[in-house]
Amino acid sequence: MEEVRYPRKRFAELLGFSESELTIADNLEGLVELGGRRDSYGPGDLSAYRAALGAHPPRRQMRRQLFLNFKGGTGKTSLSTSYAYRLAELGHRVLLLDLDSQGHATKCVGFEGEEQKYTLFDVLVKKLPIADAVIHTPLAELDLVASNLRMSTIDLALMPMSGREFKLRKALEDVADRYDFCVLDAPPSFGLLNLNAIMSSDDLFVPVLPDFLSFHGLKLLFETVHELEEDLEHYLQNVTILLNNFNPTTRIAREARQALEEHYGEYLSKTVVRQCTKFAQASSEGTPIFAFDPSSKGAEDIQSIIDEFMPRLAARAQERSA
Ligand SMILES: Nc1ncnc2c1ncn2[C@@H]1O[C@H](COP(=O)(O)OP(=O)(O)OP(=O)(O)O)[C@@H](O)[C@H]1O
Ligand SMILES: [Mg+2]
Repeated sequence: MEEVRYPRKRFAELLGFSESELTIADNLEGLVELGGRRDSYGPGDLSAYRAALGAHPPRRQMRRQLFLNFKGGTGKTSLSTSYAYRLAELGHRVLLLDLDSQGHATKCVGFEGEEQKYTLFDVLVKKLPIADAVIHTPLAELDLVASNLRMSTIDLALMPMSGREFKLRKALEDVADRYDFCVLDAPPSFGLLNLNAIMSSDDLFVPVLPDFLSFHGLKLLFETVHELEEDLEHYLQNVTILLNNFNPTTRIAREARQALEEHYGEYLSKTVVRQCTKFAQASSEGTPIFAFDPSSKGAEDIQSIIDEFMPRLAARAQERSA
């Protein structure tokens, strides 16, 4: 991710500036030392310009958003990491939590899980303060708690502990004032870790593929989540199905979409994430899709998810303060 470069025009757009306004900013004291007017900028510059110019969105109460499906390979990691990176690019303070021992989210933002000292295992089982497990990325608004193979035994380790379902929720309280969003990338399984993740979340995003196996898996997921909500008295505020990897030229995809609209219409997002090979290319380079190819269909669709949900969150925040 360190190699990410933003051409001048795109950098200005990200800050909400015209290019001539950017030239003025380039020459301001505190910023001119970073290199003055130049052709391209790095993620660190983006953070520095935002900080110096106060060009970030309003700070908000930390919103905890979980990408979960018990089924594997539905796009949880591709969507959650792109979403988290984009929010941070737009100036929101984001903590990305990799919950999967495969460490894919960690890789997607450019880190090698096995090289990291701490994971959520240390936080949830060994009581390490979560702030000590946080890794800073080159984009100052994006922090990460990495994952690696050590996480594969976390369910067993949590089993005998008291309050085992709420360890993550409690851990997150310590950093709630540092972030606007906490984005959680779940593994494709059901166990105590994912139970912790559900109990820690305000919003649930369920990426599904446009096929009938995914469709049938949804019933189990919804039943399980609703039972847990009642048993443990934690109610998710939004549950959203994200149809991913959609290719309208195949009949099966069109039929699966129709079935989702009929049976889960109230949960289905308006945004459909189209099939886009750039997701795989970007993740193999450890670069989020917005840095890899901001004009790709994948990047466009993630932006459209943000555009669809941000107004909803703003409305909720107003409800709370009213
Ligand atoms: N919209 C898309 N278009 C094309 N390929 C996609 C899309 N979304 C995800 N993929 C690809 O599908 C594969 C699985 O995606 P991903 O790893 O994000 O799923 P996952 O749900 O996190 O998987 P797991 O359950 O193993 O954690 C990857 O190779 C990814 O690049
Ligand atoms: Mg994954």
